Amino acid sequence: MDEYLTSYEDIDVHALMLKDLPRTRAYCDAIQQCAGLLEGKTVLDVGAGSGILSLFAARAGARRVYAVEASNMAHIAKEIVAANGLGDVVEVIHTAVEDVTLPVDAVDVIVSEWMGFYLLHESMLDSVIYARDRWLRPGGLMLPSSARLHIAMCDLSDYWREEFEWTRDFFGFDMTPLVPHLKERRFREPLIMSVDERCVWRESAATVLQLDMSKCSASELEAFQVESRLTVCPGGNNEARKVHGFLLWFDVGFPSVSDKEQPVVLSTAPWQPQTHWKQARWVVIPLPEPMSVCEMVADERAGEGGASCGAAGVRVSSALRFVREGGSRNYTLDLEITDVQVVKGTGE
Ligand SMILES: C[S@@+](CC[C@H](N)C(=O)[O-])C[C@H]1O[C@@H](n2cnc3c(N)ncnc32)[C@H](O)[C@@H]1O
Repeated sequence: MDEYLTSYEDIDVHALMLKDLPRTRAYCDAIQQCAGLLEGKTVLDVGAGSGILSLFAARAGARRVYAVEASNMAHIAKEIVAANGLGDVVEVIHTAVEDVTLPVDAVDVIVSEWMGFYLLHESMLDSVIYARDRWLRPGGLMLPSSARLHIAMCDLSDYWREEFEWTRDFFGFDMTPLVPHLKERRFREPLIMSVDERCVWRESAATVLQLDMSKCSASELEAFQVESRLTVCPGGNNEARKVHGFLLWFDVGFPSVSDKEQPVVLSTAPWQPQTHWKQARWVVIPLPEPMSVCEMVADERAGEGGASCGAAGVRVSSALRFVREGGSRNYTLDLEITDVQVVKGTGE
């Protein structure tokens, strides 16, 4: 078994996911909302883990649930299903979904919790897409049914201070020649870290990727580029707004089934309750040097003879490339800043 699947044999990983209430509740509510669509239907749970999503599907009225789990967690899932007296509905199958043989030609519904850091890390989505193309009947239901990746600019002053600024005067010596080397080491990969929500420039937020789970393909996710033009304002009260990097987070959506209820969205946005993806929502791609929004706007105003020039903020255009090589489950993320401009009015 590969390292990835072995990591899912750690019972603490499953306890962490189960106790992540925004996550588990979103699935519970979404599956319950879809009860009318699940009643008497066949469900495939891709990567069942402890079996929790299969239990939700059984409770919502599914006739048969195939809980496919590749890791040895399948043994515990079987016990959990039995402990809940659902053995006649939920069948735990200990194998990779790519190798499974089901006793039916097709299923009506696929449910899975496959999301990783920046949505796509670990690439479990490939297995869900495989299962969809192999086992879902035409017009069948995917839970979740959509996924989106978002980006915003953020201030990492605390991180900068802690990692680099101490070098300026260290026991009376200038240690700043260390900084480029430290940056080279620290910024080799995106930072997975906690950032205070107040340090995320919300007005700059944009959606950079949208996936329709009934249509997306694994090949389109092999290598792709997203472009964004994000504008950050100087802020009121002479706030010294800075931009140190780009933050990535995701949400997944479930189908809308009635006019009376809002469709469920599981969001890992900075301003939503924390989930176990707490780091994932904070995948930060740092800039080599921070940008001072206030100084850039002030310079523009001074250049044009005062505040009346209406400089509204700084707009950063960028291209973010995602590349997955050599069958790797993980991506290399590469950010290129293509333009930085002080913009007026609405930023157009
Ligand atoms: C993120 S966990 C979700 C577990 C459970 N569904 C839940 O919501 O708590 C993903 C699970 O999928 C399993 N898994 C990953 N790839 C798989 C595959 N190709 N076939 C079967 N199981 C897989 C992992 O072992 C892990 O238990």
